[in-house]
Amino acid sequence: MTSITFTINGAARTVQAPPMKRLLDVLREDLRLTGTKEGCGEGECGACAVILNGDLVNSCLIPVLQADGVEITTIEGLAHDERLHPIQQCFLENGGAQCGICTPGMILATHHLLSKHPHPSLVQIQEGLSGNLCRCTGYMRIFSAVQAAANAGADR
Ligand code: FES
Ligand code: FES
Repeated sequence: MTSITFTINGAARTVQAPPMKRLLDVLREDLRLTGTKEGCGEGECGACAVILNGDLVNSCLIPVLQADGVEITTIEGLAHDERLHPIQQCFLENGGAQCGICTPGMILATHHLLSKHPHPSLVQIQEGLSGNLCRCTGYMRIFSAVQAAANAGADR
């Protein structure tokens, strides 16, 4: 076991875990942050995406040891005072979520995209979400949700 400290959704947390345990499993099992989903477990689908020191990363590929001293945002970090983040609201209103497995990763990818491109083109949206797979929506509703979020100024 190794002691690992990081800041998650604005709060400092320390966990005791085997150093090679996946960050995904530490989030879900140790911290009970089950909004982060597992799809492929192989870095291909983006369901497990989190923002780590400002980068969008797949937490199924990261040994928790690498998270020592970092800042992490998970889907639980977006809503405030029981109010959905504007990106979450736009996904809801535009039918951007069906089964929901891909949704937390899609929303964090959108958050990351809008922080870099507050008014993205369709191509930038497609590129920004290219690491996130959805088997339900056909993507057009997701792209509409991202566009709506951009129009609503949801880049924070
Ligand atoms: S579960 Fe991590 S990329 Fe698919
Ligand atoms: S909503 Fe089901 S995988 Fe995207």
